[in-house]
Amino acid sequence: MVARLRRALGTAGYTYDGVAARLGPLAHQALSRNETTPGLRATRSGDPLDTLVRLWPLQAVVAGDDAARALPDLVEPLLTAGVLERSGDEVRALVDVRPYADDDHDWWVVSDLTPGLDGAPIAVTPEHVLGVSPASSSLAQLTVRAPVGRALDLGTGCGVQALHLAAHAGAVVATDVNPRALEMTRFTAALGEVDVDVRDGSLFEPVTGDRFDLVVSNPPFVVSPATSERLVYRDSGLPGDEVVRRLVTLAPAHLTPGGRCQVLANWVHATGQPWQQRVGDWLDGLGCDAWVVQREVADPAAYVELWLKDAGLHGTPAYLQRYDAWLAWFEEQAVEAVGFGWLDLRRVDRDPVLRLEEWPYDVEQPLGPEVADHARRAQLLAATSDADLLTLRLAARVDVRQDTQGEPGAEDPEAIVLRQQRGLRRARRVDTVEAGLVGACDGDLTVGQILDALASLLGEDAQTLRRERVRAVRELVTEGFLVPSPAG
Ligand SMILES: C[S@@+](CC[C@H](N)C(=O)[O-])C[C@H]1O[C@@H](n2cnc3c(N)ncnc32)[C@H](O)[C@@H]1O
Repeated sequence: MVARLRRALGTAGYTYDGVAARLGPLAHQALSRNETTPGLRATRSGDPLDTLVRLWPLQAVVAGDDAARALPDLVEPLLTAGVLERSGDEVRALVDVRPYADDDHDWWVVSDLTPGLDGAPIAVTPEHVLGVSPASSSLAQLTVRAPVGRALDLGTGCGVQALHLAAHAGAVVATDVNPRALEMTRFTAALGEVDVDVRDGSLFEPVTGDRFDLVVSNPPFVVSPATSERLVYRDSGLPGDEVVRRLVTLAPAHLTPGGRCQVLANWVHATGQPWQQRVGDWLDGLGCDAWVVQREVADPAAYVELWLKDAGLHGTPAYLQRYDAWLAWFEEQAVEAVGFGWLDLRRVDRDPVLRLEEWPYDVEQPLGPEVADHARRAQLLAATSDADLLTLRLAARVDVRQDTQGEPGAEDPEAIVLRQQRGLRRARRVDTVEAGLVGACDGDLTVGQILDALASLLGEDAQTLRRERVRAVRELVTEGFLVPSPAG
């Protein structure tokens, strides 16, 4: 049945690009806001593609004859499988089958239907299997796509990360605690003709003794009291940010040497404890380099509102009571705010390098190549003493630009900022020495030679300048403003 369905979807042109073209930008964007009216207006022909778009993304009822034309000999099996439901002469979807693509592949993702289309009340069951969400896309874009041997998608849901992994991993294991998610991931994988070893169980239980070159997880990270009213796609059943702590601390035992674990996460900002200390404590002694980036922070009230609305509770009798209970729990736990971001861990056989930082600004997507580069730079710096660093020939990364600010006509700028156009798109305020250093790094002279030339230009002692600036050189390399020169 799956092979026939794949053929029917392909024949109808029911691909990501095909659907986007049929809907057009207006209806496509409206659908991303959960509005179907422009999409319904764009799909009135009754041809197979219109029918499939109406059936799945738009969740409309379609005529049985149209469904039979779009899905030849498939309507009955799909009714039996619980993917479709018939009512009189009409058919509608009970499960979503949505085209999905990267630059090189067309897939379909099977999940539960999107709740709340056109303002309908959001009603989700505890076992709801989420389709591709903004968080799924964040993780997919963040993932380093180098070829690897074995990869794990922990908390696979609809199987979207597993699809991506299968494109660059020799073998993929996908796990979940939700039997419905496991079933949907199997369906997603089969439709995409992708081999995924789907396993049932919590966290790393289903992969005891297994090691992976790459582990990715978009876990149920919502920071909440361990409650009985749990939506399994977002609530782990563990209190606070414990699920992320467990995931991160258990991961290294399942990584091959050099193996990587990339996790989306929320973490608590507790009174009197900087978030970097809390998350840093989890990373201590793991034997992994770690790069942790906090992208957003929400205060307790905004956080509770976000997730109660996500569950469709806004305006219901339970809302006020749940809001109050959640806030009271935050108070008890001294939770002042919740951070949202990601962690990239890499198993190393030397003293690990940890970097935890905030970067709430726009970044280049996909970010995966920058994550890989960051790790390479960390590796280089870990293997290079200060003395050796000064002997390297470095180059300013090609996308770095310099902004200067000051009074019109003034001789010296008040501020110099180096800005990256790519990767994290960092901005770094520098003084004239750092600006001069970066400007002169073109792979020709060593860092030490450039600092010596700057010292003589500024009338300073060369040894002192070298000693004072070596730390800044490390930071400039860590942050990607300076990179090893191909010539060096
Ligand atoms: C936010 S969804 C992510 C789904 C998908 N990987 C994605 O990126 O869109 C989290 C998934 O973790 C699963 N999950 C919840 N608790 C888990 C646990 N203890 N161990 C493994 N998976 C769990 C949920 O069933 C859900 O499918």
